[in-house]
Amino acid sequence: MNAITPRTGFEVRLATRPDGRLPLPSDFALVEAPVPAPAPGEVLVRNLYMSLDPGMLMLIAGESGLPMPRYELGEAMYGDAVGEVAVSTDPVLAAGDLVVHRLGWREFAVGRGGDFRRVERDALPSPAAHLGVGLVAYAGLVDVAGLRPGETVFVSSAAGATGSMAGQIARLLGAGRVIGSAGTPEKVAYLTERLDFDAAFDHHDGPVLDRLREAAPDGVDVCFDNVGGEQLRAAIEVMNVHGRIAVCGALNRQSTARPDEGPGDLLTVLAKRLTIRGFTVWDHLERTGEFGTLFRRWLDEGAIVHDLNVIDGLAAAPQALLDLVGGAYRGKTVVRLTS
Ligand SMILES: NC(=O)c1ccc[n+]([C@@H]2O[C@H](COP(=O)([O-])OP(=O)(O)OC[C@H]3O[C@@H](n4cnc5c(N)ncnc54)[C@H](OP(=O)(O)O)[C@@H]3O)[C@@H](O)[C@H]2O)c1
Repeated sequence: MNAITPRTGFEVRLATRPDGRLPLPSDFALVEAPVPAPAPGEVLVRNLYMSLDPGMLMLIAGESGLPMPRYELGEAMYGDAVGEVAVSTDPVLAAGDLVVHRLGWREFAVGRGGDFRRVERDALPSPAAHLGVGLVAYAGLVDVAGLRPGETVFVSSAAGATGSMAGQIARLLGAGRVIGSAGTPEKVAYLTERLDFDAAFDHHDGPVLDRLREAAPDGVDVCFDNVGGEQLRAAIEVMNVHGRIAVCGALNRQSTARPDEGPGDLLTVLAKRLTIRGFTVWDHLERTGEFGTLFRRWLDEGAIVHDLNVIDGLAAAPQALLDLVGGAYRGKTVVRLTS
């Protein structure tokens, strides 16, 4: 091994599985572990940034029926990360390549070459921008909700990582009116003043149904739902006939560690012939190239705002994950893994 492939690196492991509650920092363990030398066909990557995603709380809780494996006790957690290839025995990747992959929550990642996807170093303003959630927003609007020009769109958790992309992309795709909900007056102002939403409201300033009706006097055609619960039920009431709801997230459940009460009586769904469709970004990876080109163009033209919060160091990551779901940040939150 040479100087850039140290013998040990830090990783975060799940130490305790919380039972019916949100995790505490003591449920995580920061451990210094050996960095294995890559076997033939493997690469060793020095991680630069990793993503924080509220969905990680469900993997910590070990909920069943998710489209990805839960975190196992005593093992390193995983998640989206971007890093630099340090050593490669795979002919497709070379030392110095910038790659995105799923082996976050650790300083060094070792895996099969095929588990790492090379990205252009200069394509985006920062390597951390490759951890954005624009693709899920784009796929949700285009493929799942079938957004058409002129339609009214409602986005819940609109000041968050996915919601801030969904609202802005809806506008860029020709939505007629874009409405968002968020959890503080500052975030509401952020939506209308910085992200150019037409209307926004504080979901604590309830009932949500009344706030949404005021913001959408002509109804909603497309709902991009990150939350569930009261916000989803309000959206169903305010949707226009043949409206489409793309169910992207479950923040109500993720932030409370309690089951969501769900959409309620479905008679309205029937009467208005609504579509409610859950989806994951993994079903839409064929859009990666197309979205990447659009995103770069929108950034170059100043047509889209992509705000990043950077948390320093793996040791701060567990608390930052809890703060994220507690509403501390706007835009996308990542952890810097190098000093
Ligand atoms: N389907 C997919 O493939 C896919 C991909 C990525 C993410 N997701 C999911 O999409 C959702 C959004 O992800 P993200 O990374 O963009 O997170 P995010 O919206 O940035 O999450 C943090 C925000 O959640 C909001 N929040 C927390 N509890 C809430 C509650 N009970 N009611 C309303 N808002 C609440 C807070 O905003 P306020 O202060 O505004 O309340 C907080 O700032 C998550 O559920 C995530 O798991 C799905």
